[in-house]
Amino acid sequence: MNSSVTAHRSAILHCLADPDQQIDAADSSIESTYQYLADGVIIVKEGLIQQIGDAEQVLQLYPNIAVTEHHNKLIVPGFIDTHIHYPQTGVVASFGEQLLDWLENYTFPAEGKFSDLQHCRETAKFFIQELLKNGTTTALVFGTVHKESVEAFFDEADKQHLRMIAGKVMMDRNAPDYLTDTPQSSYDDSKELIERYHGKNRLSYAVTPRFAPTSSEQQLAMAGKLLQEYPDVYLHTHLSENKQEIAWVNELFPESKNYLDVYDRFNLLTPRSVFAHAIHLDDSECQRLAQTDSAVAFCPTSNTFLGSGLFNLKKMQRHQVKVALGTDIGGGTSFSMLQTMQEAYKVCQLAQQQMNPFKAFYLATLAGAEALQLADKIGNLAAGTEADFVILDLAATPLMEYRMKNVTSIEEQLFILMILGDDRAIAATYSFGECVYKKPA
Ligand code: GUN
Ligand code: ZN
Repeated sequence: MNSSVTAHRSAILHCLADPDQQIDAADSSIESTYQYLADGVIIVKEGLIQQIGDAEQVLQLYPNIAVTEHHNKLIVPGFIDTHIHYPQTGVVASFGEQLLDWLENYTFPAEGKFSDLQHCRETAKFFIQELLKNGTTTALVFGTVHKESVEAFFDEADKQHLRMIAGKVMMDRNAPDYLTDTPQSSYDDSKELIERYHGKNRLSYAVTPRFAPTSSEQQLAMAGKLLQEYPDVYLHTHLSENKQEIAWVNELFPESKNYLDVYDRFNLLTPRSVFAHAIHLDDSECQRLAQTDSAVAFCPTSNTFLGSGLFNLKKMQRHQVKVALGTDIGGGTSFSMLQTMQEAYKVCQLAQQQMNPFKAFYLATLAGAEALQLADKIGNLAAGTEADFVILDLAATPLMEYRMKNVTSIEEQLFILMILGDDRAIAATYSFGECVYKKPA
């Protein structure tokens, strides 16, 4: 690791709190929920942010420091993708189906190939490059049922010292034979992976039952047992995405009050649980998510692509449910969190809700960290946090450059970035203080 002290100078923006819940009631303006420095600097030492502030003031304290100047750029925290499937990189943009047929016709056959370690390694490598190219420095990642898939992913992430969370899919029914495990083998394999990887450098493990229809009660009980034995691992699954799926869950678990209750009965609702989609929830399910401090991943490009429905952000906020953003590759259509922010904005528009650009930015950064109980480490640029950050190019395309002319407020710049920006707007990505991606000139 680089033990020297480095400085990055540019405009800087990061969130301090949810723009919809101002930090201090006395100062109820949205400005109190972020820090914007028109000419700022971050000082990085041994992978951590040592100081952030106004460039001229802070640099006086470091007369001999090497300063990297990022002209006409914006430094923001690395994006956090709270729901993504690395083995589905090869099924992105598959035509014509909704969830259950899409799983059967495209996803399961693609996941079958991950019994081959070489295939796992090649896909993990390409997938991680895509994340970094899009400015995503932390993701909560589904593997496949094969434990090799998770080994390959973690080994690849660890090579670049990334903060990543992943887990082996637990799936013992309603799937092809070549993709099913058993309650005992899923427990044993998950346990082995936890022992080997959880807490290794910046890696963490997520217990990952695919979704209620593909796990027996015995398997869900094993998932609960793992959470009890390892209280600081995550729980990652899908919830209430598609109407047919929900009807199927009701048939399979007639004794459960609702979809969420299937998971609740096996003690899977915790402050480290992330449920992807959560589109069609009733009030009691929202209340229970809030009560247990569980989080949901809003995956707008997937929800529109698979025709699943419109996530109701305002309803979640009313119930004080933690919400973050996910791409859900390969149901989702872009690795870019900027594009995901754009689609979130559009989904809210369709529900007559308006999403402020600071809210979208919060969902893609600090909210992800909060959902993962990592806000002391990532998702913002406060002193003491890990130096995972992105250099955004505000004029990445001729259209962006043209549109940015005469725009002066950071709010407008941010909105243009999330509507017109994608991987082309990522000039460079840094993880733990090191450059892990630089856009070719
Ligand atoms: N529900 C169960 N499995 C999946 C999956 O792989 N993708 C999505 N979007 N939903 C699911
Ligand atoms: Zn998913």
